[in-house]
Amino acid sequence: MALKGPSFGALMNKRRIFVNDVAMRDGLQIESVFVPTEDKIRMVNALSQTGLSKIEVTSFTSPKAIPALRDAEQVMMEIVRVPGVRYVALAPNMRGAERAMECKVDEINLVMSTSETHNLANTRMTLRQSRSVLTDIIREARGTAAVNISLSTAFGCPMEGAVDPQTVIALGDWFVEQGVDGITLCDTTGMANPRQVSDLTEGLDLRWKGVELTLHFHNTRGMGLANVIAGLGVGIQNYDASLAGLGGCPYAPSATGNICTEDLVHMLQEMGMDTGVDLDKLLACAAEMPRMVGHEVPGAILRAGKSDARFPPPDGFEDIRARALARGDL
Ligand code: COA
Ligand code: ZN
Repeated sequence: MALKGPSFGALMNKRRIFVNDVAMRDGLQIESVFVPTEDKIRMVNALSQTGLSKIEVTSFTSPKAIPALRDAEQVMMEIVRVPGVRYVALAPNMRGAERAMECKVDEINLVMSTSETHNLANTRMTLRQSRSVLTDIIREARGTAAVNISLSTAFGCPMEGAVDPQTVIALGDWFVEQGVDGITLCDTTGMANPRQVSDLTEGLDLRWKGVELTLHFHNTRGMGLANVIAGLGVGIQNYDASLAGLGGCPYAPSATGNICTEDLVHMLQEMGMDTGVDLDKLLACAAEMPRMVGHEVPGAILRAGKSDARFPPPDGFEDIRARALARGDL
């Protein structure tokens, strides 16, 4: 069976690709260190200057559940907002949504898993409870903030295993009926493969017309950027990614980093696509992350440099060259 989707030629003619950086939320929520509030604010302000279309700034969760983000109000209120950038915050419940609205976020990112076990572990709610709570929030937020729903474990649950694509689509349909502005399909623990992405998402942009569709991949098993290619192949233009490749859900066994923002932007630019992002500015932000979180980070371009980086030949090369010249081979 051949993979579906248009050729690379068709991909390259796609309009803009929009990147949402989630490092300050998905990235920091799994870190054991508390990054000082002023460092978070400085980083969001720097990211705001890179051309990213969206930044997930923080999360209004219980400070006991996610102590790393207990300064959500201060961060959200003290960043300098750049027109054209959408500032998003995650909220797991009504209390969180109210806090987010008080801080005048542009968009509230709600979460619900597609599997009962992960939903209970992550939000302490059953799927039925989540539906009820989230409907109330969507109604409450109308006219104040846009609402996006992130459907976790959409490509598989680390505890339950495979998730039926029909479950994911039906849940998305239901949220469209509730009036969400956006739906993000999340591969919370990097279980998705490119064929699965293509099969699940093909046609969803038409089915959920008028609702922004975003894909959120983790690179846990090395398939992250391949999954983006599959998403591009079915015409999806919005991707979550995390600066330096940080990230992971504290309530999902084996969760590791999101796809890396600068690696994603680098790949798309090398393919001739327009992200609107200044890669050098983004790399300068990424370079600060190891110090900020206190450990090495997975980002590849940060380590290897961009594809157009040029390096001197290795030691002894002049001799090799001289011998080739002497033989008349050069
Ligand atoms: N903001 C601040 N405090 C909150 C809160 C919120 N959004 N939601 C709950 N709390 C507080 C309550 O006030 C209560 O505090 P208390 O112990 O001092 O009285 C405590 O948290 C427990 O409240 P409860 O309503 O019983 O929540 P819970 O224990 O069932 O926890 C969540 C539910 C969802 C709030 C919590 O598990 C959570 O924040 N999880 C994080 C989910 C997440 O972000 N996951 C990663 C993203 S995918
Ligand atoms: Zn994630």
